[in-house]
This record gives sequence, structure tokens and C-alpha cells, in this order.
Amino acid sequence: MSTRSTARRVIAALAGVLLAGSMAACGNSDTGGDSGDGNDKIVLGFSQVGAESGWRTANTTSIKEAAAEAGIELKFDDAQQKQENQIKAIRNFIQQKVDVIAFSPVVESGWDTVLKEAKDAKIPVILTDRAVDSADKSLYKTFLGSDFVKEGRLAGEWLVEQKKAASGPVNIVELQGTTGSAPANDRKKGFAEAIAANPNLKIVASQSGDFTRAGGKQVMEQFLKANPKIDVLFAHNDDMGLGALEAISAAGKTPGKDITIITVDAVKDGMQALADGKFNFIAECSPLLGPQLMELVKKVKAGEEVPARIETEETTFTQEQAKEALPNRKY
Ligand code: AHR
Repeated sequence: MSTRSTARRVIAALAGVLLAGSMAACGNSDTGGDSGDGNDKIVLGFSQVGAESGWRTANTTSIKEAAAEAGIELKFDDAQQKQENQIKAIRNFIQQKVDVIAFSPVVESGWDTVLKEAKDAKIPVILTDRAVDSADKSLYKTFLGSDFVKEGRLAGEWLVEQKKAASGPVNIVELQGTTGSAPANDRKKGFAEAIAANPNLKIVASQSGDFTRAGGKQVMEQFLKANPKIDVLFAHNDDMGLGALEAISAAGKTPGKDITIITVDAVKDGMQALADGKFNFIAECSPLLGPQLMELVKKVKAGEEVPARIETEETTFTQEQAKEALPNRKY
């Protein structure tokens, strides 16, 4: 046997040993990659929407704290509200062979290709907070988050009850969340369905404020200029509602009195505005998803079955309830 062919055999044998070692480190090769760094901690790649709201900041904190607590190595990426950044981040996670990928999709559509890439790489994906509209449910293991349609419906039902004695039109303006996002689509739908119970309740203007305070303020200014009679504001989150407060006061109107204000989230600043009588009602959306997410990460990494949908428990707040709840509010 020539020296060259002996060398080839030695290299092939070594490659076999290395491959077997890396597959053992992977455990079930259907449930994750191997980052190959000799670290046996579970590695989670998480792509966050951005930092657009108080809710989002609380959600990021919850995820970072829960990962540290659970001993999970977190690779965190902030997509700055851009789908292309999230796709790039997910591709990076695939390349780095993380064990599990989780993300909160900025918009609902357009995920099939990248999710298929993760599936082909045998890296399980968990959706948190927001859903995708992919028909192929095998592209992700589970979806952990709120029922946004229900939040919109609860907001609408409260309004129907408040305005049941109204004899004339009640003009509503709506500040939508990020265009194409699940919470914007679903809250709009739930609210519209609920207010259909009273034909006096009419949405006279509806536009996106992108879930930000600045967006809420700017769009509310336009609403106020274009609509001489606004009775109600439904804002898809607290931050847009808080931005709108500035526009309403600047227009010489009293928020919470001249204009009834309904929002979603119940973050501290929103709850303070509610307790102060500037908001009138909030449908809660909890950002504290970190601990449940880490449990799911461990389970999918271990190849265990998980429920396809895990819904967050939530409530609603009136002004009186906000005063009571505020001192113990965690976010
Ligand atoms: O997806 C959850 C929503 O996103 C929150 O209601 C909003 O505040 C955030 O930006």
C-alpha cells in the first residue's frame, strides 16, 4: 500500500470518528443542530421584532432573563421592525447551527422559504407572540402568544356596552399597529366584529401608527384635523394611545372625557394613563413570555411533543381596576 493511500485511509477514519462524535452531541438529529463549540448548553437563536413599544421592551427583558435563568445560551437579534432583517437573522442562526430558533414575526406573510430552510437543516422553530400565515404547519413546532382577535373583541364589547344608550352616530378613529402584522390584522377584525352589534358605532378613520408613540401622535393629529367630531379612539397598543394623548390635548380636547380612549397591552405607562382617567379601557396583552418559551425550547430540543398552540392568559382593565393593579404591575 502506498504512503498516499494509507494517509487517505487515516483521514477517512478520523472524519468518521468526528462525524459520530458530532451526531452524538446532537442527540436526536431531528431536533436541532450542533454549534460545534464544545458547549453543551442549549443554544437558542431569537429574532425579535424591534424595540417599538413598552410592550416589546418588557418582552425582550422577559426573554433574556428567562434564558439566563434556564441556563440557555441566547443569540438575540433585533430586526428593527424589518422582515428582511429577520430573514437574515434566521439564516445566520441556521448557519451557526443553533439548537432551536424562536422568533416573533414582524408581519404574517412571506416566511415559507426561510422556515423550509430551517426545517431542512433540522432546526425546530417556535413562534412567539405573533403568528405567520403559512399553510404548512409543519414548518414550526408551536405558537406561543395571545389571542389578538379576542383582545380586539373585548375592546369592542366594552364600547358597545358603554354606548348602548347612544341615540346618534358614535364616531370612532382607529390607530392600527404595524401594517400586515398579526396583532394589527386580528385586533382590527375582533373590534369590528364586536361593534357591528350597534349600527351607531362607526369607524370614520383607520390608519397605521406602527405601534409607536411618535406614529400614534402623528396620525392622531391628522385624524383630528380631518374629523371635526371624534367620540372614540381605539388604539391597537398603549404606546400609540399615549402618543395620541399629546395630539388630543394640543387640539384643546380632554382625553378620556371628550374622547373615549381604548387601548391594548396594559404596560405601566398605559395603566398609569388609565388610572389617571386619560384612557378609559385596556385589553391586556402579556409580554411575559420568556419562562414559557424556555420550557418549550427544552422540550423541542429533547424531541418531546408540544401543543401546536399555547395561548397566553389575559384580562381587561377599567380605570378603577387599573388603580388597584398598578402598584403590583411587573411591566
Ligand atoms: O405583538 C404584540 C404587539 O407588538 C404589542 O401589542 C405592541 O405593543 C407591540 O409592539
